[in-house]
Amino acid sequence: MDKSKLQENAKKLGIGSYTRHVLLCTGPSCCSEKEGLEAWDELKKQIKEKGLSSGVNACYRTKVGCLRLCESGPIAAVYPEGIWYANLGKTNIEPFVESHLVNGKPLENLVIARNPLHHDQTSSNES
Ligand code: FES
Repeated sequence: MDKSKLQENAKKLGIGSYTRHVLLCTGPSCCSEKEGLEAWDELKKQIKEKGLSSGVNACYRTKVGCLRLCESGPIAAVYPEGIWYANLGKTNIEPFVESHLVNGKPLENLVIARNPLHHDQTSSNES
């Protein structure tokens, strides 16, 4: 492993500067691969157009193969809030990006679960 090369690549990708991370499943079980890839392309487009590649609302995006819910997709999870979405197809991507990623308000009609990750160092050290 070339750690310094990986660190350089991570830096080039902006890793370390992001506010959120969107994991979008592109199927094939929760949705067709076509629907998943259309949603993925729209997510990339919207993140770029809305200036979320850097800055205070910078958002990293990752296309994944399965988030284990496997129906009513595309399924997505957004961290650090841990908001899980269903039906995040192409036509729902723009309202999702505007509401959640730009304004910080989850698009409630598509939210199916919540699993925020806590970073309370005090409590984790006490156990
Ligand atoms: S294939 Fe998308 S959640 Fe399993």
